[in-house]
Amino acid sequence: FVTQATKPILKDKKVLISAGGTREQIDPVRFIGNRSSGKMGIALANEAANAGAEVTLVVGQITVLLPTHPQIKIIHIESTNDLFKTISNEFTQTDILIMAAAVADFEPETVATQKIKKSADNDEFLLKLKKTPDILKTVGATKKDQLVVGFAAETQGLLANAQKKLIKKNADLIIANNVATPGIGFASDDNQVTLLERDQDPKQLPKMTKNELAAHLIKLIATKIN
Ligand code: CTP
Ligand code: CA
Repeated sequence: FVTQATKPILKDKKVLISAGGTREQIDPVRFIGNRSSGKMGIALANEAANAGAEVTLVVGQITVLLPTHPQIKIIHIESTNDLFKTISNEFTQTDILIMAAAVADFEPETVATQKIKKSADNDEFLLKLKKTPDILKTVGATKKDQLVVGFAAETQGLLANAQKKLIKKNADLIIANNVATPGIGFASDDNQVTLLERDQDPKQLPKMTKNELAAHLIKLIATKIN
């Protein structure tokens, strides 16, 4: 890992990070998932731990290796509701929350207890979904002196949509990225983001690797918490 923070700028801070994608169960063998790799959240966890923080990394489905840093505690989750319970439990003992997970917005209204069979007389199958809890919004609303950081994945209206998320989720920082652009965002090694902070103009960052972006973000977060 190359982008090690040289100074312990987050010494003794408790950092809670979610990474990867959630899976919403349909029946015993199927789920609704997404293309998140977990790279961004894991890069942030490594960077925070290298900066002296005590990190709790809550991971869903990932396509990369888990970190092995001694200062990173790992909790595995599957669904949005699992993630919600874990983040809610951990948040009160946390200084900084970073929600990098790709969270499902909807889950099946009911989970079939047996494998769903196709029937000979029906060519279509309708799956009814219900909204999942908005974790960042719910937890952000209870914030005391914690720093709350979220991501905004957009395919259009990047700044306006991300600005709404900053306010709606009571966040201190939103990292907005255009997920419609090939080579950045989901599953890629690079990212190109715009940072939105309260009462500040949006800052567009150049394209960089997720490890470089993690180093940049941890430095920024350290200046905001100290
Ligand atoms: N998030 C969350 N709980 C959810 C959905 C999203 O905590 N149920 C978090 C994500 O981890 C991310 C931020 O909220 O940090 C924004 O996620 P995003 O999907 O971009 O926005 P949504 O609020 O879900 O709105 P939409 O998908 O409709 O744009
Ligand atoms: Ca969403």
